[in-house]
Amino acid sequence: MRRKVIAGNWKMNMLPNEAIAFIESLTPLVKDTENEVILCVPYTDLFYSLLTAQGTNIKIGAQNMHFEESGAYTGEVSGKMLKCIGVEYVIIGHSERRQYFAETDETVNKKIKTALANELKPIVCVGETLEQRESGKTEEIITTQTRLALDGLSSEQLSNVIIAYEPIWAIGTGKTATSEDANNSIKAIRNEVAKLYGDEVASEMIIQYGGSVKSSNAKELFTTSDIDGGLVGGASLKADEFAKIVNYNK
Ligand code: PGA
Repeated sequence: MRRKVIAGNWKMNMLPNEAIAFIESLTPLVKDTENEVILCVPYTDLFYSLLTAQGTNIKIGAQNMHFEESGAYTGEVSGKMLKCIGVEYVIIGHSERRQYFAETDETVNKKIKTALANELKPIVCVGETLEQRESGKTEEIITTQTRLALDGLSSEQLSNVIIAYEPIWAIGTGKTATSEDANNSIKAIRNEVAKLYGDEVASEMIIQYGGSVKSSNAKELFTTSDIDGGLVGGASLKADEFAKIVNYNK
């Protein structure tokens, strides 16, 4: 049985004092869940968040990293830097990074490899635009993104990779994919993983849904056959609301 993984993506929000207060309020609300709880926070909140989350079941992730190990890359942060302070997860290839920061399938693939080499678990985002969806290309786009992202990885490495299916038209718009649509897209991604790595690896792969997940739709989404939890943006900025999503099965 695959576990459910609920990850918050704070994006460019929350100051350190707000991060500390958030984690202190969230801790008692999620302490009894069997679901995995992750908060992907801005770089400047990482250290405070790690300290505040110590001894709890809340894991901390970053939202991006560079694919090189070190060097003359002003303003960038390496996987090793994240790992050495205790970060466990890192979002790779979020659509906002692909759209605004020239992230490509190639850089996504390189970043995943460097993350894994540094024992960080990547949460890899794939998803179609509205235009691609309307022209019937959803499956082709998301399976291609998946194949290119995973290029060159071994099946052992795959157990440390999470995929987040995030239709771009559903991010931050209040429009959620129907649970049936989201489940079908995730099945298509799982089939692609099965083609590349076999059924067993595919059946164990954690594949989340992201795009306007909130407490009112979490249960419907997360109780489908293939959706293994969510990557939650806007609704992860309020501890009560995020806790309700984590506790969707209580
Ligand atoms: P949203 O963002 O929940 O605000 O739609 C999801 C994401 O971008 O990861």
